Amino acid sequence: MTDEKGLVELLRKAGYPEKAIDYYMRKLNVGVIEGAEAVDSFTGLCGDSMRMYLKVEEGVIKDAKFQAIGCAGAFASGSALTEMVKGKTLKEAEKITEHDVIKDLEGLPGPKLHCARLSVDALRKSIESYMKR
Ligand code: FES
Repeated sequence: MTDEKGLVELLRKAGYPEKAIDYYMRKLNVGVIEGAEAVDSFTGLCGDSMRMYLKVEEGVIKDAKFQAIGCAGAFASGSALTEMVKGKTLKEAEKITEHDVIKDLEGLPGPKLHCARLSVDALRKSIESYMKR
């Protein structure tokens, strides 16, 4: 068993659904957008942090990436949320809740449900930073 297969197995045993595992393994949308119009960070009560970068044109999110110091739940949520916001207006994006993120991921293990909130809070901070410009 390769390390990667072992990790996937661990995530399955921990209760992560296949979509969340796929996002986590691929680190989908993890990175930086140079010159992003909207960028800010949020640190959750668990101590994990996420920084969200948005490329915005005429109020529409054209691209989204994130960086995180956090768990598999945080990374899977960040990937899901950055996928969900592309093509949405800032107003539409700020209405997305952690429940929407969890639904998109097809669930998260019970102790990891709050991790989706970290991504939503980071997104809202990022949008807020854009509005204050
Ligand atoms: Fe902190 Fe998952 S435990 S975001």
